[in-house]
Amino acid sequence: MSLFCNAAALLLKPTRAVPAMLSAARRAGTGGQYDYILVDKRGEKRNVGFIQLNRPRVLNALCFGLMWEVARALGDFQVDGDVGAVVITGGERAFAAGADIKEMQNRTFQESYGGNFLAHWNAVSAVRKPVIAAVNGLALGGGCELAMMCDIIYAGEKAQFGQPEILLGTIPGAGGTQRLTRAVGKSLAMEMVLTGDQIDARQAERSGLVSKVFPVDQVVAEAIKCGEKIAGNSKLVSAMAKEAVNAAYELALAEGNRLERRMFHATFATEDCKEGMAAFVQKRKAVFQDK
Ligand code: HXC
Repeated sequence: MSLFCNAAALLLKPTRAVPAMLSAARRAGTGGQYDYILVDKRGEKRNVGFIQLNRPRVLNALCFGLMWEVARALGDFQVDGDVGAVVITGGERAFAAGADIKEMQNRTFQESYGGNFLAHWNAVSAVRKPVIAAVNGLALGGGCELAMMCDIIYAGEKAQFGQPEILLGTIPGAGGTQRLTRAVGKSLAMEMVLTGDQIDARQAERSGLVSKVFPVDQVVAEAIKCGEKIAGNSKLVSAMAKEAVNAAYELALAEGNRLERRMFHATFATEDCKEGMAAFVQKRKAVFQDK
């Protein structure tokens, strides 16, 4: 089942209060066109999936339909045998200024809890191919959370990260209290979540939220380059590596090390492991077949 179907499955029991959102989702779910994102394949071999959030007038506010489309595009890239990594980016002014506040404004608890509001966002963290966020400008609230659902974050020099939900009388709802804390530690996460203050790209790099900072006009190209590098390795083994790293968030150290060792053993069952080691011994470049 594709990620899109999984995302759709999460939304099978809509509440009556969200018809506008659902009609956007239905539009997004049929046909190949997208209303809120641009989708492409990039890199010399066109092996990097590319998703650009495209609501610049509202600083890429993450409305229901946009996140549904992101889930669908990721689902398509997941089953595309040519794609070895995915880049998600926004615009120069904003990666995304958060979940769409106007869409959330009149929500009730009953609709939110009853309809499992935002469950379809999980598609981003559920995709098994490596995902790189290329962040320029504002990554606020759900925008920061979307970046943190990705596996690697590259930032442009003017990027700003923040969880300003407290200023709206709410709290982060898509991992902001969890992933941010794991990334930057308790003190800085608490400060950001409790004050709504933002950090800039350099502080984000120092505190471990982003792995590299680039000039604004280079961050997307660098993210694609990183995606190409990843896509040149075995897709099968990359998925295992991603699963093992992600287990570090979920498991105690002993369990995590055990899972890692078992997955390491499992790589010996792949053709790609044989090829990689043979290529080393024969002093040539490995050619992986993803099997
Ligand atoms: C809906 C938004 C938006 C948002 C900006 N806009 N952010 N619309 N939801 N999150 C819209 C504005 O309403 C405006 O459209 C247009 O984008 C430009 O924004 P301005 O405010 O005019 O720009 P500026 O003065 O430069 O201020 C930029 C800003 C401010 C500081 C980023 O827009 C802002 O504070 N936005 C909200 C940021 C935020 O609180 N994010 C967290 C959302 S809650 P119009 O048509 O009005 O001119 C969240 C919860 C996550 O993310 C929970 C789990 C997902």
